[in-house]
Amino acid sequence: MMGKWMDLRSDTVTWPTEAMRQAMAAAEVGDDVYGDDPTVLELEKSAAEIVGKEAALFVASGTMGNQLAIMAQTQPGDEIILSDRCHIVGHEAGAAALLSSVQLRCLPVQNGRMDLGQIAATIRKTPEDIHSPTTRLICLENADSDGTVLDLPYMQAVRALATRYQIPVHLDGARLFNAATALGIPAADLAREADTVMFCLSKGLCAPIGSILTGPRPVIERARRKRKILGGGMRQAGVLAAAGLLALREMTVRLDQDHQNARYLAQALETLGGSWFKIERTPQINMVFFRLDQYPVSADRLVHQLQQRNILVNTADDGVFRLVCHYWVTTEDIDRLIEVLGELAT
Ligand SMILES: Cc1ncc(COP(=O)(O)O)c(C=O)c1O
Repeated sequence: MMGKWMDLRSDTVTWPTEAMRQAMAAAEVGDDVYGDDPTVLELEKSAAEIVGKEAALFVASGTMGNQLAIMAQTQPGDEIILSDRCHIVGHEAGAAALLSSVQLRCLPVQNGRMDLGQIAATIRKTPEDIHSPTTRLICLENADSDGTVLDLPYMQAVRALATRYQIPVHLDGARLFNAATALGIPAADLAREADTVMFCLSKGLCAPIGSILTGPRPVIERARRKRKILGGGMRQAGVLAAAGLLALREMTVRLDQDHQNARYLAQALETLGGSWFKIERTPQINMVFFRLDQYPVSADRLVHQLQQRNILVNTADDGVFRLVCHYWVTTEDIDRLIEVLGELAT
């Protein structure tokens, strides 16, 4: 519980832990735009190491990390290939068009995956043709915001294809550590299949602010300059990086608990009342997707009634609810939610 609330709307709602608050208060700081904030430098070094990349950049948000990856690896008029459901296309307010002036080639996905044949067919093959845009980047998202995890063979196949045409791959790994935990492999194994990787320290890792962009040093140094252009050069950012270090060290290794809670919640919903709820798919990470089936309360009323009992959930999207488990939602909280759902139906 977060204070009096059980907040299941997202893992973006997480508060910093007590240890993070203490580390933030005690953080050694400097001016990071001069490159002399020791805590930011330590965070960037640790972040690069954990995913096996040459360099890392601490940025304000996942959106900023994704956009810097695009800005640093494309020229205006270039094309990038990505899923039509991904965050960059649907939830970054058109930033790639605005900031990088790139053309997005959006492909449909099935089970979170763009078809390899379709990616191959979409790559521009005649860069010398003055009519043809140049395919400059392929973006993947793992795990995606539908909670789907891309397995290593799929990532390897996309990488192999991209390499054949000398196109870099960017991985939006906002929930990279959830994906790695679900697959039971180190995050570095997934990160190896991309040139640049963004991951969030906020969300399930509980840091209050911040994401990391990692990759080859020249790309990261270009991104550092672009970050300054966007006004994202932060001064005594060590206060935030201190929480980020704990996110990396302590929170990446406990995500399985959230995944177990999500499976526990899905199972409980599936059996509650016989057929009150219909689970969309078995949770792979910390997200549970379900529809109301025979439940005797309408979707909008349910959101309202739960709120009256200090339980926050988002309204259903096209009839589908998404509940997200995280550090501040315990197994006991889930038991309480199930109990309340039972009470509201009677
Ligand atoms: C898959 C994915 N990528 C990127 C982001 C952007 O992160 P931020 O909200 O920190 O900009 C999110 C945020 O929810 C996300 O789910």
